[in-house]
Formats: sequence, structure tokens, C-alpha cells
Amino acid sequence: MTRQTLIAGNWKMHGLTGALGFFSEIAPVAAQSPATVLVCPPSTLVHQAARACEGTAIRIGGQDCHAARSGAHTGDVSADMLRDAGASHVIVGHSERRADHGESDADVRAKADAALAAGLVPVICVGETRAEREAGREVEVVARQLAASLPQNQTGVDLVIAYEPVWAIGTGLTASINDVARMHAALRERLPDPLTTCILYGGSVKPDNASDLLGLADVDGALVGGASLNATDFAAIIKAASLKSELVR
Ligand code: 13P
Repeated sequence: MTRQTLIAGNWKMHGLTGALGFFSEIAPVAAQSPATVLVCPPSTLVHQAARACEGTAIRIGGQDCHAARSGAHTGDVSADMLRDAGASHVIVGHSERRADHGESDADVRAKADAALAAGLVPVICVGETRAEREAGREVEVVARQLAASLPQNQTGVDLVIAYEPVWAIGTGLTASINDVARMHAALRERLPDPLTTCILYGGSVKPDNASDLLGLADVDGALVGGASLNATDFAAIIKAASLKSELVR
């Protein structure tokens, strides 16, 4: 059984129209990679990014969506709107959304359901805080988030899980290889479709640690923040994933 390898960039609240040149730099690397390459720019750039990536192997995603299809929700963006703008994926439940906007697991599940209904692949994020890890509760916390954030009673659904320890995001710290292996195995055994669901690791993934992380059997790719803003760094991470895909095949 081989799972798709996915290298996803999350630009967070970075990027003006001048950043669109990034895609012509990445396109040749994506074309040569057996991995799927996804970039999630801010919503203001989704349409232009999707246009810029037409005819390339790069997919475009949103960073969040509302749970409703439409309605009186000033400032929000629906999954249908992202799909209409050219997105194929959407991140839901990123820890920054959970912290900045108080999103609960139930909110995240509703967003994942909305993404699926719109024909988008949800990238559902889970991860423990430093205090939860120091208390030795990381598997319990992440398992609970997973169970409550996943769409209910569904198998055969195209979705992606991203394990992002909160304390590793933007800090330069990464979980140890053993801790990542342990958590990904724990997540996999709790998935409705354990053999086919792609589980990404995120949290300070850089060119110099990507090969070790992607070398783990249960790590099917990466969700990359800071390093996805730099075409050279992101290209190096895509190349590290190519090695993994070749090994798997
Ligand atoms: P960094 O790679 O900047 O740590 O961000 C990780 C992340 O939050 C991706 O969603």
C-alpha cells in the first residue's frame, strides 16, 4: 500500500501580489516530483495563485473556511468560494485558528464537513501544547482532538491529517524523530482509513530536517510554514520528499 506524499506550504498571513513569482520558481521542481505539492496562500491570493498554477503540478488551498455555505458572516470565506477561486484543499483547525479565534473541535469538524461538501480536501490539524507534552498527555490530547475533529462515521473520504505540536510552530524546535514516529503511529491507528490517509508533520520543517522527518514510515509529508515562503527552501523540502516517494515505490 503506498500513500500519496504531500508537501504543503502554509503562507499564513504573508504574501502580496508580488509573491506570485514564487510559483514559476517552484513549478519545475513540482513537475519532477512524485509528491503532490500544495501551497495555501492567504485568501486574497487564492484565485490569482490558482491562475498562476494552471498547467503546473502545484495545487492551491485555503487556510480556513466557514462551516456554512453562505450567509451573514462578515469577513468569512466559504469552502464553495475557495473551490470557485481554484482551490483543491483547505486547512482546518490550525492551532493558530484554534488559539486566535477560539475554534473548538466541533467547529473544526463542521469546517471539515463543509470542505468535503464543497469538493475540497480538508487538511485537519491537531497538536498538543508544550504544557500538555510536559505533563505526558500529548497522545491523549491529540487523540481526543482527532476523534472530535474528524467527520463522523465516514470512511473512504479524501482527507489529510496534519500533526503540528504547537510548541514546534515557528520556534525552530521540532519534535524528536522518535516522538514524531510515536505520535503518527498513534494517530494512524485511530483513523477510519488508516492505510490510505495521509498524515503530515508540521512545526519548523526546514531543508535540513526534512529528510529525517520524511524518512519515517508514518510521515506522509509535511505542512511547512516559514520555509514555504522561500522558494529555495520549499524546493529543497519537495526534493527531500521525492527521495521518500522513490523509496516507497
Ligand atoms: P513553521 O514551519 O513556520 O513552524 O509553521 C508550521 C505551521 O504552522 C504550518 O501550518
